[in-house]
Amino acid sequence: KGYVASVEPDEPPIAPELSAEPAPPPKKKRKTESTQPGEMRGPLGEDLQLPSTSFAKHVQETALSSRETASTAKRKAVAVTRPSEVEAARLLLPIVAEEQPIMEAILLNSVVIICGETGSGKTTQVPQFLYEAGFGSLDSENPGMIGVTQPRRVAAVSMAARVAHELNLPSSRVSYQIRYDASVSPSTVIKFMTDGVLLRELATDFLLAKYSVIIIDEAHERSMNTDILIGVLSRVIKLREDMWREGKDGVKPLRLIIMSATLRVSDFAENKMLFKTAPPIISVPARQHPVTVHFSRRTPSDYVTEAVRKASKIHARLPPGGVLIFLTGQNEIAGVCRKLELRYGKKALEERRKARRSAEDIDLGNVQKEQAELAADIDRDGAAAEEDAEALDSDADSDADDELGIDKEETDVPMHIVPLYALLPSEKQMQVFRPPPSGTRLVVVSTNVAETSLTIPDIRYVVDCGRAKERRYDVANGIQAFQVSWISKASAAQRAGRAGRTGPGHCYRLYSSALYEHYFDQFSKPEILRVPIEGVVLQMKSMNIDAVINFPFPTPPDRTSLRKAETILTHLGALKVQSKGSVVLGGSITEIGKAMSLFPLSPRYSRMLVSGRQHGCLPYVIAIVSALSVGDPFLREEALVEGEEESDDDDESLPHLTTEAAKAKETRRLRRRAFFQSQQLHASLGDSISDIFRILSVVGAYEYAGGGHKFCTDHFVRPKAMEEIHKLRAQISNIVQSNFPEMDAGFVANPPPPTNLQLKVLRQLIAAGFIDQVAIRKDLVQRTGLLGEKYTTSKGVPYQALGIAEDVFIHPSSVLANTPPPDYVVFLEVVRTSRVYIKGLTTINVAWLSSLGKPLCSFSKPLKSKDGRSMVIPHFGPAGWELPPIEAKCQ
Ligand code: CDP
Ligand code: MG
Repeated sequence: KGYVASVEPDEPPIAPELSAEPAPPPKKKRKTESTQPGEMRGPLGEDLQLPSTSFAKHVQETALSSRETASTAKRKAVAVTRPSEVEAARLLLPIVAEEQPIMEAILLNSVVIICGETGSGKTTQVPQFLYEAGFGSLDSENPGMIGVTQPRRVAAVSMAARVAHELNLPSSRVSYQIRYDASVSPSTVIKFMTDGVLLRELATDFLLAKYSVIIIDEAHERSMNTDILIGVLSRVIKLREDMWREGKDGVKPLRLIIMSATLRVSDFAENKMLFKTAPPIISVPARQHPVTVHFSRRTPSDYVTEAVRKASKIHARLPPGGVLIFLTGQNEIAGVCRKLELRYGKKALEERRKARRSAEDIDLGNVQKEQAELAADIDRDGAAAEEDAEALDSDADSDADDELGIDKEETDVPMHIVPLYALLPSEKQMQVFRPPPSGTRLVVVSTNVAETSLTIPDIRYVVDCGRAKERRYDVANGIQAFQVSWISKASAAQRAGRAGRTGPGHCYRLYSSALYEHYFDQFSKPEILRVPIEGVVLQMKSMNIDAVINFPFPTPPDRTSLRKAETILTHLGALKVQSKGSVVLGGSITEIGKAMSLFPLSPRYSRMLVSGRQHGCLPYVIAIVSALSVGDPFLREEALVEGEEESDDDDESLPHLTTEAAKAKETRRLRRRAFFQSQQLHASLGDSISDIFRILSVVGAYEYAGGGHKFCTDHFVRPKAMEEIHKLRAQISNIVQSNFPEMDAGFVANPPPPTNLQLKVLRQLIAAGFIDQVAIRKDLVQRTGLLGEKYTTSKGVPYQALGIAEDVFIHPSSVLANTPPPDYVVFLEVVRTSRVYIKGLTTINVAWLSSLGKPLCSFSKPLKSKDGRSMVIPHFGPAGWELPPIEAKCQ
């Protein structure tokens, strides 16, 4: 047998943490219910309201009817009229049956944790329970909005739309707010937002006075913002409760609901730093059909080919049902989509059928027989299908089979192939929710976005490559790398679970059970342990949480990473220097820091903004930081530049450019040439002195052209990125105008190209924001004359960067890669691929370092120069690079 079935079909707990017994109801809290009939009081002593839904009516008539009193009867029930198809669909959601225990727990406790597997209805239904119980409207007992946070923008937008539809309310009442966009209005009752949005609201309104309840969704993902929010909110709740006890005007307690797709919530529930008494955990029983998990006997390294092979087999041999393939990135996904399209796309099948017909001159009877067989195939009963699913393994793994390839997997049913990944335009992302054309099989090829936040209907087969691409960050030196690594066991269980939503399913894991046992972690690492944290540290300081080290983190960050964050913030002028020379943890925020914290941006970018008004540079700075925050708008630059131009590998071609399945290689080559030409065009601004100016120039050109897809195609930039940059510019300009009227944003849609003076100021601003990310050409430090005549371009020239022990190199995608090697550059990021590369470069003048980077300089004793002036020699950074002497009075 080719596979080891780890779990038998009749043994459902493929994901033990999902199907475990529901936690017992919060017993000790319940006793409050029975105190005084009719006088329900919460733990805080406030009046309680029963949910006034149809369910509540039922309760009033039955079990709880004896407690029905004037106080519950006078309650303002919020009536809703849902569309009938929504009513029907709701009844199938497991969480709807749990409305009573959920609402009771919420009314009796200030913090409640709800666990329920993906698709059980948490995100769409819990806000509706609250709404119907009277939360959200201003005249209710619980005035203030229902806030729901999401780690992903896609989810915030689409869930707001879905809940608005279900409640039959306009988007002005069930609204969303994300970094680039918002539909909120004064009459908003339910507000979906990204966790970052709520975190920033806390900086200006620590009590969250506008809200009566906050739902933190997808807490199991352990995104950094979610973790921080839970920590901060544990304090806000306490504060609101105290104020309410003291009878402060109109202050009501705030409630917190933490929702998770797994039962692993001990970091929140049992963390005494967070909640003194453990909050009740309500577990929504899983309505999960059994999923049979098939491990591979071996773990193929080419999992992409293996995924195509597996999908083909499923498609040709197994009964109807959608297939969901998990891969690690956009390139792989595009490659697999193309291959499947070539084999089983509607067009491909039609052509093949035509070819077959003319070649073999098949008579009509034969075709009819074929069709009859096909129909029989599709109609086969479940038992036979189960046998087939098992049999899929039996002949799957032999090497002979590998050599035969998969073309023998013939079928006349076309595949409806849909890619899904974060960078895909939103309207394409929504494709997965639409039913496939009849007579086709839906095949979704996705990154791990389909793991928990989106539930795709009717998936019966999952193909799991067992890997995910993750941004890894070395806390010590800041080097980032995108690494494909093994997922956790919890993630693998989530992925498998996607096959059991509508019926029994199968999950084919493209790795062996031995590998799973020995190399998969139980759970994935919380984000706070993996990424730079200067942004959240600044947010906390702006909330006057100075001793960040004492903050109740669900999982505390590494001390090194905390120290590094405070050091960077001190260098940027955002924190007060506590003692001369060295940074002491716990510094408080400066005025500059406060101004910086108002922007939804990395502190380095906000630093550039707050000093950006000099010489009319502000519109350019706004454009630059918007573009850098959104991310590189250029298409697939790395693969193109890093020596892969002539690659024969189909998987490495440009997914956006070759929309049709098989574009000739020659076309791709020509396109690549065109790409480089357009790159040069972008570089024309500022004489190749900064990669950032290349981005500035494309943003300028985009605005000048009035946007549009054609512009993006012509210039090889991503339309979605360009649109987001456009929106973020407008948003940042608004923040500037409303918070810093003296700065006069001067937001001009099409500012003229910057002057030379402005370009110089912009480079200085960039240097100010990245003053600790400077690299010096190595021969200048060592005075070796290494450069000699060997190098006419920067390619291969070693540099030394502050705080990085290894040599670093200018990334081939940089505009500086083809120029004579500059002496000093600042860089935006450093990545490890084949070498350690610095990216996002700007040449700087060495003289700027001693004035912009004073905290990083030490100075020699004053020396007398020949003309009698008193001079000092600055040494920059811990490495002590010697800079040109400056006059002593300057320091
Ligand atoms: O949050 P959770 O994963 O528990 O479930 P949910 O997102 O509330 O989804 C509940 C149901 O609504 C699922 O069956 C989804 O497929 C469905 N849904 C939908 O049909 N359209 C949407 N835009 C969102 C959800
Ligand atoms: Mg959800």
